[in-house]
Amino acid sequence: METLAVPQGTFSLARYPIRQQETLRAWDAADEYLLNYLHDEQLLTSSSNILILNDSFGALACALADYQSSSISDSFIAYQGMRNNLKHNKQNPDAVPFRHSLMAYGNPDQPYDVVVLKITKSLAQLEDQLHRVRPFIDENTKFIAAGMVKAIHSSTLQLFESLIGATTTSLARKKARLIFSTLNPTLSRPENSYPKSYTLENTQYQILNHANVFSRERLDIGTRFFIENLPADERYQQIVDLGCGNGIVGLMAAAANPIATISFVDESYMAVASAEHNFANAFPERQAEYSVTDCLSNMPSDRYDLILNNPPFHQQNAIGDFIAWQMFNDAKAALKKGGELWVIGNRHLNYHLKLKKLFGHCVTVASNKKFVILKAIKK
Ligand SMILES: C[S@@+](CC[C@H](N)C(=O)[O-])C[C@H]1O[C@@H](n2cnc3c(N)ncnc32)[C@H](O)[C@@H]1O
Repeated sequence: METLAVPQGTFSLARYPIRQQETLRAWDAADEYLLNYLHDEQLLTSSSNILILNDSFGALACALADYQSSSISDSFIAYQGMRNNLKHNKQNPDAVPFRHSLMAYGNPDQPYDVVVLKITKSLAQLEDQLHRVRPFIDENTKFIAAGMVKAIHSSTLQLFESLIGATTTSLARKKARLIFSTLNPTLSRPENSYPKSYTLENTQYQILNHANVFSRERLDIGTRFFIENLPADERYQQIVDLGCGNGIVGLMAAAANPIATISFVDESYMAVASAEHNFANAFPERQAEYSVTDCLSNMPSDRYDLILNNPPFHQQNAIGDFIAWQMFNDAKAALKKGGELWVIGNRHLNYHLKLKKLFGHCVTVASNKKFVILKAIKK
């Protein structure tokens, strides 16, 4: 837990989930820059109606909880992080109402006074968010985005110019920058290009992808190799697609295992919504389960016959294999005795070492130049 000191107060903040020996902070220099700017420019009054977009772990929510703030994000982890940090700082965990990325952004009759937006890695997500927020702002709304300089490109500013209106930037401070945009109500705007669809190769399945979904433009080559090698057997009755993205892996597992029930799990609301749409479209007569959660937390133990997993390499801006490790641990708990975890990864990630450590063994099911598919059985 580290301390953020800004004009709005001093807050002890942790990332989520809380890990022993965490080396990363729960906020960045862009959060600090933004909060200082709001104070220095006296942009807030006690009645300010504020929308916070993409708050990483609730640093902005903690600092702005005394105003009429609400928060929107596509991340369950960000939501839990915000609640934990509000609680830890003796604030009501519901003080800043949370809505996920596919819900209405506000009330069109009450335009926001202030919108603060943290720039994420995904330009697609930004494009979608600017389309979604536009009906809830007017020319008087102070629209301020904040990000690390390395994440702000001319294409980022171009999106603000074309979807909101006149846009300027601040000087950089501690490698962070602010972006100021003012709504131009007469601007003729392009349509939102999200969600996007493609036909899954060699099938007739239409795959819908919301803006923040992995491989939203086309099938990922790792996923392709995984679906070419999925197991089929009547003993797989309860199957989990862990970190499902658009749900292609679970969908193809369902096609190969016609009596199985598939559970789609992801921490992204847009991912699970895409998977739900895609599965319902492909198998209108079959039931499936959908969960937005962190790895398999809150999922039953000793229940599943098969867990399929293409782990992520990063969580928000932090790159590392800690999520894979948590996914494998959770998978072990969620599997029945004799249940199998199948994992695909780049060869160099050495997931076999982790699986051996956890399960006591691990076999290679298939491999090519780039990827390896590994299997571990719960004994
Ligand atoms: C490499 S993508 C795989 C997507 C899909 N299964 C495929 O193969 O195309 C990893 C997925 O894990 C999800 N993810 C990341 N962190 C997670 C977490 N803590 N809990 C659950 N899902 C997570 C991401 O949102 C992303 O959809």
